Amino acid sequence: MKRQRVREGYFSQEANSLKIHVSQLQIGMYVSKLDRPWLETPFLMQGFMVENLDDIDILAEYCEHVWVDSVQDTWIPPEDRAVVGKSPRKTTYINKVSAQDEHRQAMGIYKEARRITKSLLDDIRLGGTIDTEQAKSTVNDCVQSVIRNPDALIWMSKLREEKEYTAEHCLNVCILAIAFGRKLGLMEEELQNLGFCGLLHDVGKMKVPNSVLQKTSPLTDKEFNMIKAHTVHGRNLLMSSPNMYDGAIDVAYSHHERLDGKGYPRKLKASSITQFSRMIAIVDAYDAMTTDRCYAKAITSTDALKEIYSCRGTHFDEELSLAFIKTVGLYPPGSIVELDNGLVGLVLTVNHRHRHLPQIYAVLDQDKKPAKADIIDLKDVNDGKLSKDYLIKRVHCDGTFGICISDYREKGLSFSY
Ligand SMILES: [Fe+2]
Repeated sequence: MKRQRVREGYFSQEANSLKIHVSQLQIGMYVSKLDRPWLETPFLMQGFMVENLDDIDILAEYCEHVWVDSVQDTWIPPEDRAVVGKSPRKTTYINKVSAQDEHRQAMGIYKEARRITKSLLDDIRLGGTIDTEQAKSTVNDCVQSVIRNPDALIWMSKLREEKEYTAEHCLNVCILAIAFGRKLGLMEEELQNLGFCGLLHDVGKMKVPNSVLQKTSPLTDKEFNMIKAHTVHGRNLLMSSPNMYDGAIDVAYSHHERLDGKGYPRKLKASSITQFSRMIAIVDAYDAMTTDRCYAKAITSTDALKEIYSCRGTHFDEELSLAFIKTVGLYPPGSIVELDNGLVGLVLTVNHRHRHLPQIYAVLDQDKKPAKADIIDLKDVNDGKLSKDYLIKRVHCDGTFGICISDYREKGLSFSY
């Protein structure tokens, strides 16, 4: 199938693009510009291919006209594109339970997994060895929850506690990596391996002095080299652990390598960087950017995904970057969102059919005063039960308007019970 050239519309001032009404949009067109700022829309990428009818629906919600690329008419059908995460055995997952039903179980799993991850890292810092079987068992609990429904555990991963950065980061990378692998259709055994790689990718940091890890001022060259050495420490630690999975050794050693050969510690060429190391590199960067660290404030999920998008092909694997952006989605559970009408809420569950219309819990009303506790399903905008004022305008960082996501720890997805 060839991408269809636009016949209606007229040439804009931008060479090679056509301004058309959104009603003329078709799957396969490349949208290069909107009639409103990108930041006021749910689109993560400034310029993207329309892949399905949902993309068209979202554009129609936010725009009247768009500009489409009129020159590059090489529309590659999905079935002809390279398959990300190509594996001899792949599967398709469907949610076995609702996010709400998984919530209570996921809360217990997350708390226990965090306790175990923390004690595992503490043991290493004290010179002990890695309890491989316990780590595998923790990963297995996470895999089962993510397979049943990934939204609940992803919600948990948003709930941070201060001073537990490395342990929570390792666990969150594990959870997000499993969700990423699930989206790619990896078989359960591969999800176990990938999650295990995520959980242990930064164990080498336990051999870096806390004074360097937690330094808030700029690092000296020597200190930066000490941080970089966590990759080598990680490889050595894992290599000396009994029954260790080889893939985890590779990921601990290579998750800071870059496709353009400018990574560390070995400046590997792209062809030498494995699929799992490429995946964990993306998840690692995303989780780090969206968390307050001692030297940098967190940025929103949307901005972190934009950063990954801008580094695709140089720092990160291009196709995996796009797949990860789809995994996390526009508004992951736990996001603080502000609507066009000023109302502020927390995203509870993702609407996988209409990604821009999640279910939210109202926190602040239109005047930024405490709102009446209420669940609002934004899909009602589609049904005409809610006005378009209820479309999401932007995502905010944790702490904005005095809203701390961790205050909602115990309620979480159980809001809707
Ligand atoms: Fe690292």
